[in-house]
Amino acid sequence: MSKHSHLQGIVAPLCDWFEAGRRLLPWRIEPTPYRVWISEIMLQQTRIEAVIPYFERFMNELPDVQALASVAPDRLMKLWEGLGYYSRARNLQKAAQQMIEHYGGELPADYHALLSLSGIGEYTAGAIASIAFGIPVPAVDGNVLRVLARLTGSHEDVMKPAVRKELTALAASLVPTDRPASFNQGLMELGERVCVPNTMPRCEACPIAEHCAVSGSPEAATLPYRAPKKPRRIEQRTVYVMLTDEHPRRVLLHKRPEEGLLAGLWELPNTEGNEPLPLTVQAVGESMELTNSRHIFSHIEWHMHGVLQIVKPFAVPDDYEFAGLTALLTDHALPTAFRAYSQMLPTWLGESK
Ligand code: ADE
Repeated sequence: MSKHSHLQGIVAPLCDWFEAGRRLLPWRIEPTPYRVWISEIMLQQTRIEAVIPYFERFMNELPDVQALASVAPDRLMKLWEGLGYYSRARNLQKAAQQMIEHYGGELPADYHALLSLSGIGEYTAGAIASIAFGIPVPAVDGNVLRVLARLTGSHEDVMKPAVRKELTALAASLVPTDRPASFNQGLMELGERVCVPNTMPRCEACPIAEHCAVSGSPEAATLPYRAPKKPRRIEQRTVYVMLTDEHPRRVLLHKRPEEGLLAGLWELPNTEGNEPLPLTVQAVGESMELTNSRHIFSHIEWHMHGVLQIVKPFAVPDDYEFAGLTALLTDHALPTAFRAYSQMLPTWLGESK
């Protein structure tokens, strides 16, 4: 990366800037490998402020690799409820089991060993290795790609693997052996707080502006270049709120298949279009139309409408269950996608417990 050798000049000011201004986040106050790992996985798709309460609750209940490896999967989903991208939580547990099997129940202090674990990709392996173990490897996420694309004035598509590889090699050539954690987190924080996306960055507040190819120029706001995305597929769905006519009432839940969207999670039964549920129910009274709502996943949008129906309890197939309020609140994580309907459940199921 000799064409960027002048960028050696960013290392010291970036590390100094990070160390002087860093936010005292829970996983920074006590950066054990386990805490760094969990925080980095939570932070992958979720904002820092939103992650903090989840992180604290997670640590209280599952303070180490052993606890995570052995927690009941439904309980784990419950701790993850609301964070989204639930395969992250499933992979955490798999990785904890792999650590027990292969690494004495601890996170391995080695980049390639970390990379071999479930749910740990190049970014996460780099973040854990550098932050928790002081190993000088890069950790390049979306924020860091943006910072590097602007620093170098690159107009290449950062979604392309070859371009990511090149920018990662640049980061690797710059990580200092004595301050890898400050360097990597400095790039991340710069991207989060100064070199912000989709708008003119705050170049006046940037500690490395003098090394940047586009500092202060309107061009900065246009980088990194991204090829236009395919539009999401839109699915019309009907969500069924089936309540029993007992006291207290129970609600019909369905367990999703172990593969695919929201894999293995409990949900309010729902069908494509206006299809009825594939179950024979004995309705009590008229059904009621509920509000419309939308949920956006990465590649799909659900446009939902709801139907509320009171039914006689009946024997359900294996992947269904009638759940009372207590079971709903303790054992069944309902994905945020159903919020418009699930938020009324505590009222509908009665406050009896
Ligand atoms: N975003 C994700 N991980 C981070 C970290 N360790 N520091 C700052 N921002 C982050």
